[in-house]
Amino acid sequence: VFKSNQIGSIAVAEQIARIIRSKAAKGQQAVLGLATGSSPIKVYDELIRMHREEDLSFEHVVTFNLDEYYPMSNRSTKGYNYFMHEQLFNHVDIKPENIHIPNGEISIQEVHDYCADYERKIDEAGGLDVQLLGIGRTGHIGFNEPGSHLESRTRLVKLASLTIQDAVNDFGREELVPSRAITMGVHSVFKAKKIIMLAWGEKKAPIVKEAVEGEVNEKVPATFLQKHPDVEVVLDEHAALHLS
Ligand code: F6R
Repeated sequence: VFKSNQIGSIAVAEQIARIIRSKAAKGQQAVLGLATGSSPIKVYDELIRMHREEDLSFEHVVTFNLDEYYPMSNRSTKGYNYFMHEQLFNHVDIKPENIHIPNGEISIQEVHDYCADYERKIDEAGGLDVQLLGIGRTGHIGFNEPGSHLESRTRLVKLASLTIQDAVNDFGREELVPSRAITMGVHSVFKAKKIIMLAWGEKKAPIVKEAVEGEVNEKVPATFLQKHPDVEVVLDEHAALHLS
């Protein structure tokens, strides 16, 4: 638990930078699982600063993003493709071919094979060294909404109504929020060697308590993280308010 999201985000960026540098020192690529939304923004800001001021290179970094709305144009300012380029990729030396974000433009006929291929690409890259997560107020990680299984893989899902409401700010009106998304599964996340889940602010306090202290249960998919051998939950004091 950190005093502020600023301080917590810097600590998380430092961990990610350590992973990138230690892999690079061994001549290996670091494989990062990344999230969008408001929670990781300051982590990305700090990684960009380290790239500019401390020679942190992304040349040998491969990334896989958790999710994308469906359908979604890759050029839309509302999409996660746009978000990731704006918030991180345009400002560091990552190779475009090393960036993987679920494609919201894929046709419905191709979605099944596309998701299996996304999953295979993560494995072929050597698996995720670290997965960064936010948590939704439904208890979702990625867009694995309540009811998602521990064994779930990358797939097309329906968004919960609370998740849609929480996205109204970004889309203007509820009817404009896509009702579906492509998301990595709980299992896909779980395969990461290390998981770092971020939550900031009092709005997240009730679901953080359930995720951390509640019974492991698919009604709150984030509770599955309790079973992973290397998870860190990084909070500010407001998000930690309900923890016992
Ligand atoms: C985003 C994602 C979501 C968000 C969650 C929290 O890629 O997978 O699970 O992490 O909805 O969103 P914020 O950070 O905006 O509160």
